[in-house]
Amino acid sequence: MRRVTVPSCVVLLLTLASCAPSPPAPADPHSFARPGEVVVDHLDLDLAVDFERRTLTGKASLHVINRTGAKRLWLDVREMEIRGVTLGREGTPTTWELGREQPFLGRPLAVEVRPDTEIVHVEYTTHPEAAALQWLEPRMTAGGRQPFLLTQSQSVFARSWVPCQDTPGVRMTYDATVRVPPGAWALMSAENPQRPAPDGVYSFHMPQRIPSYLLALAVGDIAFRPLGPRSGVYADPGVVDAAAWEFADTAAMMAAAERLYGPYRWGRYDVIVLPASFPYGGMENPRLTFATPTILAGDRSLISLVAHELAHSWSGNLVTNASWNDFWLNEGFTVYLEARILEELYGRDYAEMQSLLEFRGMLEEIEDLGADNPLTRLALDLAGRDPEDTFDTVVYPKGYLFLRLLEEAVGREAWDAYLRGYFDRFAFQSMTTERFLDDLRRGLLDARPGLERELRIDEWVHGSGLPDNHPRIESAALAAVDAKVEAWLAGTPAAELDTRAWTTAELLHFLRSLPEPLPAERMAELDDAFGLTTTGNSELLHAWLLHAVAGGYRPADPALERFLIGQGRLKFLRPLYRKLAETEAGRRRALAIYARARPGYHPMSYREIDEVLGRPGAR
Ligand code: BES
Ligand code: ZN
Repeated sequence: MRRVTVPSCVVLLLTLASCAPSPPAPADPHSFARPGEVVVDHLDLDLAVDFERRTLTGKASLHVINRTGAKRLWLDVREMEIRGVTLGREGTPTTWELGREQPFLGRPLAVEVRPDTEIVHVEYTTHPEAAALQWLEPRMTAGGRQPFLLTQSQSVFARSWVPCQDTPGVRMTYDATVRVPPGAWALMSAENPQRPAPDGVYSFHMPQRIPSYLLALAVGDIAFRPLGPRSGVYADPGVVDAAAWEFADTAAMMAAAERLYGPYRWGRYDVIVLPASFPYGGMENPRLTFATPTILAGDRSLISLVAHELAHSWSGNLVTNASWNDFWLNEGFTVYLEARILEELYGRDYAEMQSLLEFRGMLEEIEDLGADNPLTRLALDLAGRDPEDTFDTVVYPKGYLFLRLLEEAVGREAWDAYLRGYFDRFAFQSMTTERFLDDLRRGLLDARPGLERELRIDEWVHGSGLPDNHPRIESAALAAVDAKVEAWLAGTPAAELDTRAWTTAELLHFLRSLPEPLPAERMAELDDAFGLTTTGNSELLHAWLLHAVAGGYRPADPALERFLIGQGRLKFLRPLYRKLAETEAGRRRALAIYARARPGYHPMSYREIDEVLGRPGAR
């Protein structure tokens, strides 16, 4: 095997400049891959999971199609050691080079290939701090018996555990062999086992083509419960029954989604409830949604998250944003589908209530960002930026409102027929904003002259802020809550507000509508009335703790500490640490808590909180 070791930066730059052909402008600003030249269409993975070293070691065999007879295959990698690259079934050595590390993109791996090359084998070992991987000690799991490994590949982190063309514009099938310590389960975004393998060797098969950001792996102490003929839930053995109860409506959600948007094309739909350090609420890994345990409220009040991740089986996983600039095609569409599924199952009032909560959140976010901030656009330009910036933005509810605007303009019947056709026409393909608009014109707008201008579609898609012709979300229940907010602020004690029949959504709306800071005695009154400091509902606790920090409400201190240490969901951590950091005393407190919490966070979470707290040594 000939191997080019990485020389100093300067030499490397010269090497690349002299021998690498200058690349045509890549379509995806967040990938070094050039799928127009050589494209990966299948992946064979063989990985050994080493909990002691915190590494994955093994081989990725990439089946490629050399479209242009190109001399190089360009892959994305980061935080991994490449041990060797060979070609073909016989494993012929070849030359490869690693390019310069770039902020949040990692580095290009250029492999010399031949016009007839069909397979490229990359042998590698991941870094213990690889961005996608979280390695948990047994004590950080619910049962405390075994260590746990979980991945989070979206948006650009698959490249930290699999050398690949890490762009949502490329799809591949995959097979994997994963070797884990005996007794542990391994699960992937693929066909999954329903019982553990005694020898710890698992084989996975994923027959549907997926983009790299949907590659996923979880390893640990896991049990399974069926929820229906095509769905089930995996979780820690001590959590799995509670999870099965919470997600009892999953099969009905699938049926509703299929009535609306056509067949579920992924075989089974299972959910895994992960340890609490999982940095997101949910992640739509195909066949196996990854979910935080913080949605196990005990009363099914937070299951809209399952509807959301399930909806991605159409919007996102089936028709996929071509690059992260078109993220709204994944998330805005999914929020819309989620609302429709919720409406099917629980009625219009329920769905409107959820939508209005999100809408209010968006208004606040637009105010924070500024209505002219480019991050408030649907079609984004993220070149040179961290694609994770989008997660904090308004594309979710704004995309929802835009699709609802279309629905209301053409009527539900025509709109539903169009949308169902869209998923059929573009199944297993990637989509750009312009391609969607072309299809929308052909399918709906061209037959309705003047409608595109009347709806101000260009302003919706390319403009910032929220156009004033947005649909109005109506919730009588939340309007009634608004009246109670007024009454409470005018002095009516909480105990006299008659809130006994309130659902989580109503109480959440109430809390979020209150001004900051609240005086301590009024916070105590709310706490007495609603048991907020001790609530087991993570959304309510989060909304409450924000008030507690702003108002300096000391009785909630232990709960705040427990919450920040006990779970790692960025959506909860980010605002709480930000709020703490607003004062010097708060920042000191935050740093003290963070020192204990950080070892339990996913790399994605601690990297961001490092920045929020301006922690020295932040990377
Ligand atoms: N795909 C997203 C999660 C994501 C987005 C991960 C961007 C990395 C980068 C997922 O579908 C999602 O939106 N999750 C939400 C929950 C949802 C109900 C809004 C979350 O995790 O809070
Ligand atoms: Zn989503």
